[in-house]
Amino acid sequence: MPESAPIQNPTAPEAKTGRTPDPCVVVIFGATGDLAQRKLLPALFMLGDHELLPQGFSIVGISRSPQTDESYRETMFESTKKFLGGEVNPDRWKSFAQGLFYHAADVTDPKSYQELIALLDRVEKKRGTAGNRLFYLAVSPEFYMTIVGQLGEAGLARPKSEKNWTRIIIEKPFGRDLTSARALNEKVCKYFTEDQIYRIDHYLGKETVQNILVFRFANSIFEPIWNHQYIDHIQIIAAENIGIENRGSYYDKAGALRDMVQNHMLQLVCTIAMEPPISFNARAVRDEKSKLMEAVRPIKPSEVSKYTVRGQYSDGYIDGQPVQGYRKEKNVAPDSRTETYTAIKLFIDNWRWADVPFYLRTGKRLPKRVTEIAIQFKRTPHLVFARTPEDQVLPNLLLLRIQPDEGIGMKFEAKQPGPSIRLRSVNMEFQYGTSFATPSEEAYERLLLDALLGDATLFARGDWIELAWAFITPILEGWEQSKADPIPSYPAGSFGPSESDVFIALDNRRWRVSRRWVT
Ligand code: BG6
Repeated sequence: MPESAPIQNPTAPEAKTGRTPDPCVVVIFGATGDLAQRKLLPALFMLGDHELLPQGFSIVGISRSPQTDESYRETMFESTKKFLGGEVNPDRWKSFAQGLFYHAADVTDPKSYQELIALLDRVEKKRGTAGNRLFYLAVSPEFYMTIVGQLGEAGLARPKSEKNWTRIIIEKPFGRDLTSARALNEKVCKYFTEDQIYRIDHYLGKETVQNILVFRFANSIFEPIWNHQYIDHIQIIAAENIGIENRGSYYDKAGALRDMVQNHMLQLVCTIAMEPPISFNARAVRDEKSKLMEAVRPIKPSEVSKYTVRGQYSDGYIDGQPVQGYRKEKNVAPDSRTETYTAIKLFIDNWRWADVPFYLRTGKRLPKRVTEIAIQFKRTPHLVFARTPEDQVLPNLLLLRIQPDEGIGMKFEAKQPGPSIRLRSVNMEFQYGTSFATPSEEAYERLLLDALLGDATLFARGDWIELAWAFITPILEGWEQSKADPIPSYPAGSFGPSESDVFIALDNRRWRVSRRWVT
């Protein structure tokens, strides 16, 4: 008889989905790393706390350093407490930790995988998890190929039996250009079938990003105006006030384009611009995203100065505190040319979006953490209020606030009270915080649960990844070719280099700055 009991929390809100995954084991490569401690273990613990995990659910953490199950459990208890930002009920942790095991392994050594097979057999027997397995690659990307190859050669990529499933989650970055992404896809697809592969992009797990699809496809009034006839342009900002924290060695080789645009921001573009899928399932949704990505007009290396801007932060202030410039950060080359800011103008060459510019910008050490999509509609065709100067009648603006202040806003013109017709912009607001009593679940909780349930709708498909890299790679090449040009700098705490303001001003437009971001 398996010794495990279901993970229960009598006071938990009733299970949200009614769906419970099959009994299974999650094998985390990189079990003592930042991602595992900061996101994965807390998310899995919370899923248990919400009674969304199956009976006997277990985790095998794999890392290089030797330690016992017991010491691993203790370290994870401390980090889970820390990253959940409060107390973790010790009884609930005890129940969760019964299913937590540790395996010290050299991931390049085939012997480690034979030991893993033996350990999985033992855990599955003890916990009664039947042989379903989810591998999670939370290691540095240079190990992806090795681990995938070793899992494949050890026979671990195939389901244990006809009744079982085996899946793999691969973290970003998935490649660093088109060639490496293709090579990685080829390697993974050599051992796993596409429906076993879950390429994670945590933006897709955010409640507000999922709500874009609901907003667009569960309401009838927006679809008729969701096109080039009514929309002037779209701005997407993903600003962060943090710097690169302790990730200098990764970030200096990546930069903002690879780190934020290739994945999160292009996913946002697809979510906002794709055609309605025939239903909300993995194939239909991802087909539409790939079609959209295919329609994004390529930017040739010779065109980068017309369609992109880069920047790098210098010394400045965030929230009144001095912060140092990028080149002085730990593990960053003192003459680094890596961009910590980028702005891009892209077009989607299809019937719906012909000639509508999408302006994307993202950066580190900007004044505030904010992700927002602003859809600016065209001006009225004719101004009937002749005494109001045309530039004082603002076009309608629809704001999808991804984070923080999650919600949706609409700006429209209204008559100011008084004897004459004077106009002023006013806001209509929906806020998650006030409309729904329950807090949004963490993106990793949602995505881990989906992977355990075998639902890949919110994960990137292999062809989409390659299409996204096919768009990004020529930009990287163009930047590489313009090595002689200096990288514009911006003081930490500002909204990017002045070149970026000129870039959009050339189109007679301005970056949107909300009062919420600067007060
Ligand atoms: C990660 C990037 O994918 O997303 C980080 O590697 C970035 O550099 C992070 O800070 C932003 O995520 P969020 O959820 O805080 O917007």
